[in-house]
Amino acid sequence: MMMSLFEPTPTPHQRATELREEIRRHDRLYYVDATQEISDREYDALFAELQKIEHDHPELITQDSPTQRIGVAPIGEFQTVTHAVPMLSLANTYSAEEVQDFDRRVREGLGINDPVYVCELKYDGVAMSLTYTNGVLSLAATRGDGQTGDDVTANVKTIRSVPLRLLGDRITNATVRGEVYMLTDTFLEINRRAEQAGDKTYANPRNLTAGTLKQKDSRAVAKRQLEFTAYWLDTPDKPLTSHSANIELLRELGFVTGKAVKTCSSIDEVMRFVEEWDERRFELPFQIDGIVIKVDLLRHQDELGAVARSPRWAIAYKYEAKKAQTVLNDITLQVGRTGVVTPVAELQPTLLAGSTISRATLHNEDFVHELDLRIGDTVVIEKGGDVIPKVSAVVIEKRTLDAQPWQMPHTCPCPRQSQLHRPDGEVNWYCDDVVCPWQIRRRLQHFASRDAMDIEGLGEKAIDQFVDAGLIESIADIYELPNRRDEILQLDRWAPKSYDKLVAGIARSTEQPFPRVLFALGIRFVGEGVAKILARAFPSIDELSMATHEQLMSVHEIGDSIATSVREFFEDADNVALVESLKNAGLQFTSTYAGPSSQEFAGKTFVLTGELTSMTRKEAEEYIEARGGKASGSVSKKTSYVVAGENAGSKLTKAQELGVPVLTEEEFRSLLSTS
Ligand code: IVH
Repeated sequence: MMMSLFEPTPTPHQRATELREEIRRHDRLYYVDATQEISDREYDALFAELQKIEHDHPELITQDSPTQRIGVAPIGEFQTVTHAVPMLSLANTYSAEEVQDFDRRVREGLGINDPVYVCELKYDGVAMSLTYTNGVLSLAATRGDGQTGDDVTANVKTIRSVPLRLLGDRITNATVRGEVYMLTDTFLEINRRAEQAGDKTYANPRNLTAGTLKQKDSRAVAKRQLEFTAYWLDTPDKPLTSHSANIELLRELGFVTGKAVKTCSSIDEVMRFVEEWDERRFELPFQIDGIVIKVDLLRHQDELGAVARSPRWAIAYKYEAKKAQTVLNDITLQVGRTGVVTPVAELQPTLLAGSTISRATLHNEDFVHELDLRIGDTVVIEKGGDVIPKVSAVVIEKRTLDAQPWQMPHTCPCPRQSQLHRPDGEVNWYCDDVVCPWQIRRRLQHFASRDAMDIEGLGEKAIDQFVDAGLIESIADIYELPNRRDEILQLDRWAPKSYDKLVAGIARSTEQPFPRVLFALGIRFVGEGVAKILARAFPSIDELSMATHEQLMSVHEIGDSIATSVREFFEDADNVALVESLKNAGLQFTSTYAGPSSQEFAGKTFVLTGELTSMTRKEAEEYIEARGGKASGSVSKKTSYVVAGENAGSKLTKAQELGVPVLTEEEFRSLLSTS
């Protein structure tokens, strides 16, 4: 926003109000309309300015300020709240006949022949009731038993598509209901990371959403990218006539509503919608488990009323999981990075709900025996609420005499064939061989992966090639690859150019900061987050390796299993040798930048602009914050320093105009290492 010289400077209160409106407008554009008017940086700058005003004038903070979305410190138990209007659930149907029956009951109940229906996607998430008081979100409650639920307001406020204030001023008090859910990709990514870290994984996005909403620390919820779609409105501020008009009104109030909402004037039209989405549901970026069919007119809804806990004016049509039959060609074993050995179904490739399935995990030995799976069997595979296809049954009628019962092998599938073992009380088998080539492959893949050392040119294929060619046996060998030019160039698909790229990628990885290196080492239970915590508490690998179990446990958020696993890692001579050779290769094993208690930058505000080459923007911000400084998005006279990377633009110009000191990235780095 441009301010003319003649306009009086707004008071902090006025500016905060302006900023909130502006941010809310951009939030709506971004999260509801999926468009964008300003760059992320410009948005961040507005946000930072508002945060600063609120920081300097805490009395100006409002409940509905966009800054309140970032979450607050952990709360105790959730409070129980009573729903003013009970939250009903829906009766389920599974066939066209049952839908016809519903239609008949509706027509008879209303004594009319042509009720209008609205069909909506049935989002597979967690039902949520939002209360707005004087236009502001005052309560978010889970369904609970329908009468009382949990107050999860702090968590729900972090969801960007939940308006903290209703748009416009026509409606001030309202109850809005809808579904909190998670995009499938977000779910897969979170699960992937959890698996890498050896943490708990979730079966489907719904479970993960429910688990997230139960978190006590809303700052953790803010990171999970939950979504909200609204499907119900009640307000005393306006006479309401139909469900479809309510959906329209919800949109005007700033909500995201269902992706497909269709008004249908006959039950045939309803069934066409049901059938269309049964096919198309796998194209959606989120999970649905059916279609909700609702009577449109609210007076019709009132007239029909409810039985027990379900309305008579709506039903759910639940989709069956998509199934297919195929042949189980073999059961192979997969060895994970930490030595867990999992049976995998090798299937005759089959098309299922839009993708070709040729493998599916069989989880563990017991799972295979419970289904009595035999090699050569025809099996049912399905894709339903769970994103990952699974083998769900054997088609016994198709079993032939050749079908081979399967026994869990007791040796590793790798060429070393080490002994496997299954600890008492556990379902998993483990390979404890530290030089098991399969585990090594996995560890190498993890080490080089994007979130770890991010080594360009060293993907899964390259790792396989190098391991097969005997060029790498351990992580340390990666740093010897630059000396193996001739051998690499003899391999398939390798040319001088790709080799140079690999060498550059390897060299660059030696600059990765200590927490990443720690994560890359693949210590069980040490995911990205834990690695950061450990690196902060023990700023060098030497300190970490010497820390006792007790010292590890004394760190906030470090529990027994992590402490034990870290101790075990450093008690293993091979690991100690690995760390030594990686040190010699020049990897970062100390947090060069500041301990947690340093306050050198207290009271100083930094603005980062342009592209930084030796660190990411996020890292730079962390370094500043770790020293008690603040990273802000916009330059003002109060800015202490502007750090200008490559291609810095308007912020650099502005700093020069205002006489704010400008640092090059190099100067910034030396400031960091002297502080
Ligand atoms: S309407 C009284 N519409 O399905 C009607 N529900 O058992 C209240 N759901 O608890 C629900 N998408 O969590 C409605 N478009 C939609 C929905 C939907 C998902 C969930 C909701 C409800 C459950 C039905």
